[in-house]
Amino acid sequence: MPSYEIAVIPGDGIGPEVICEAVKALNALAPRFGFKANLKSYPFGAEHYLRHHEVLPPGAFDDIGAASALLLGAVGDPRVPVGPLEQELLLALRFRFDQYVNIRPTRSWPSAPVPVSLPEGAETDILVVRENTEDFYMNLGTSGNSRGLRAAMPVDRRLYRGEARVELELEPPVEAAFTLGILTSPGTLRVAERAFRLAEERGERVMYSATKSNALPHLYGFWDRTVAEAAKAHPGVKLKNINVDNLAYQLARAPHLFGVLLCPNLFGDIISDLAAGITGGLGLAASANIGDGLSMFEPVHGSAPDIAGTGKANPLAAVLSVSLMLDHLGEREAADALETAVETYLAKSPRVMLPYELDGGAPCQKVGDLVVQAIEGRL
Ligand code: NAD
Ligand code: IPM
Ligand code: MN
Repeated sequence: MPSYEIAVIPGDGIGPEVICEAVKALNALAPRFGFKANLKSYPFGAEHYLRHHEVLPPGAFDDIGAASALLLGAVGDPRVPVGPLEQELLLALRFRFDQYVNIRPTRSWPSAPVPVSLPEGAETDILVVRENTEDFYMNLGTSGNSRGLRAAMPVDRRLYRGEARVELELEPPVEAAFTLGILTSPGTLRVAERAFRLAEERGERVMYSATKSNALPHLYGFWDRTVAEAAKAHPGVKLKNINVDNLAYQLARAPHLFGVLLCPNLFGDIISDLAAGITGGLGLAASANIGDGLSMFEPVHGSAPDIAGTGKANPLAAVLSVSLMLDHLGEREAADALETAVETYLAKSPRVMLPYELDGGAPCQKVGDLVVQAIEGRL
């Protein structure tokens, strides 16, 4: 019987609430589909940070890295300054395990109202493929007094603005900040290649690549050229470049016209929240951070401190992240069964049994119980 070591970081806010329900679904699937899931939970997040004055203990990455997959809830807590948990835990995991592609599917679901009027019979089925280790997320920058900043500038100690070099104003000194967006050809090629393959598997004729090369031609012109290179090996899928601002507009108007959306890191972050909002809510948006080593599965949403502890969190994004994880582990039947169970639950439940996010009245734990009932064919 296949056996998987699953590392679990429930994290902060609604993270532990939704992960509890996701784990219930995983445990219900294992005996039915003949695999074993050995869970190892790590108490990292705000509590650990406040108690031990560190984000992660030494050796944590090595320990987590031995797992078959990592399931994460969310991090971030109002008691902790913004930054360390997001940078040194979440983003550090993506970087440390070189999880270079972030797959974020969103689609229409039964009982999930779409806040956009679609033509009769039309549905949404969007797959954001987000580059996950480069762009502005490299966090190479600084802020401070312009005198010191000029010394830290990477290029001839000057700022570039288009082709013109612009000296950073020194007198009088001003407060200023910069951060570098970096793209590399291997980094762009590997995520583009993955996006094209996913588009082919889905039978898409078109794939969109969303940038802002009109405003930032150095960075995103490079992306456009590199993605066009990758496109040559995939003649069955037509590559369409789109400005990301226009994509945001078009998505809000006619989301059913879009399928695979390849995005650089920062735009992919924003577009995936938008896609989630259009297709039923963040509580239904799952994601997979895929690398050649350890991959990580997590809801798109954060720790939602505004609803933590109220029972209002929708755990389905975490549940569906387990489906993405099972698919990655090769347990495709179990993965499909879980997605079907979520669909059955949403289709068959009266309003009062739906998550609060979908205007229902079922607390997080109840939603998890109903998904388990659907898995077991008792719904
Ligand atoms: P958020 O995603 O936590 O919340 C945005 C809005 O969506 C809130 O109104 C929230 O109540 C709602 N929401 C989110 N998930 C929901 C769910 N499952 N069910 C119902 N409603 C849900 O974004 P934010 O408020 O910008 O961030 C809060 C904290 O989370 C911050 O510290 C942020 O840095 C962190 N964050 C972490 C991750 C992660 O760990 N992967 C992702 C995003 C944000
Ligand atoms: C996400 C989050 C993270 C990101 C934050 C918390 C750093 O918004 O996973 O979408 O920007 O990638
Ligand atoms: Mn985000």
